Amino acid sequence: MKILWVVVSPEQQSLTHSLHREGLEALQAQGHEVRVSDLYAMNFNPLVTAADYGHDIDGPLRVGGESQKAYEGGTLAADIVAEQEKLAWADAVIFHFPLWWYGMPAMLKGYFDRVFVQGYAYRVRDPHDRRRTLRYGEGNMAGKRALVITSCGSADYAVGPRGISGQLDEVLFGLLHGTLWYTGFSVLPLVCIDSADRLGEHGYANAVNTVRSAVTAIEETDPIAYRFQNFGDYDRDVLKDDILPGQTGLSIHTKTPVEIATDIATDIATDIATEIATEYEETLCVSAR
Ligand SMILES: Cc1cc2nc3c(=O)[nH]c(=O)nc-3n(C[C@H](O)[C@H](O)[C@H](O)COP(=O)(O)O)c2cc1C
Repeated sequence: MKILWVVVSPEQQSLTHSLHREGLEALQAQGHEVRVSDLYAMNFNPLVTAADYGHDIDGPLRVGGESQKAYEGGTLAADIVAEQEKLAWADAVIFHFPLWWYGMPAMLKGYFDRVFVQGYAYRVRDPHDRRRTLRYGEGNMAGKRALVITSCGSADYAVGPRGISGQLDEVLFGLLHGTLWYTGFSVLPLVCIDSADRLGEHGYANAVNTVRSAVTAIEETDPIAYRFQNFGDYDRDVLKDDILPGQTGLSIHTKTPVEIATDIATDIATDIATEIATEYEETLCVSAR
């Protein structure tokens, strides 16, 4: 598999970089092709400016429109184009960072702000129906996998379902769902190394094991079953009333185990029905000859 690893930490001696090196070694040992965007080492500029778009801008800087014009006109800044080329090359992308203020470091946020431009990552029109926007499960990242790896100072219970800090996959919903699923990635379950500032030898060995296992399973891990926007669950951006009636909150945007099982059963039934129909048609042809 071709894997792009976007790693974000200012310190090469950090836990993030140590785990990155371990994971990289595990992936390479398995024969994967890996490219790395080490944003701090690259001195990546995370700030959006008019210079990103390389064309004359009359009037106020409208980031969305100008970025799309530059993307389509081939005038985006070279460092943005380089990252888009790496993304196009990759079958899977790992985004790896320490949790800072219950979110991603500004460096990574800036990466999305600058690289994920309009027309490329959002406001992507369906080429067969220009009125249809490809998002939430569809878009230019469709067919690619995304794995988010983070570490946090909080203990596992503090970022668990009843923890004071909030359940971490909900805290990072804006990244997992609002950015990665939005742009079409199949998003794998979040990996978090908790209690990261007091791991000790044993904790560190467990963390290495967790990261090595997660990255080497990147090809076969089941993605989070987020709901597609365009295939019937939503009515004008709102979950239909007959799906999980009365329920609210972020978890409603993920299919329930019963829904997942129903989807699988429907797929199997369709395959069997197709097979039976094909055999039946062949029998008819033989008897007609
Ligand atoms: C600026 C900053 C903000 C942080 N914010 C959080 C936070 O919101 N929640 C948390 O549990 N830990 C937080 N931490 C702790 C880091 O997540 C932790 O130190 C890091 O994961 C350790 O990995 P590293 O060695 O790669 O930096 C923060 C640390 C820093 C420096």
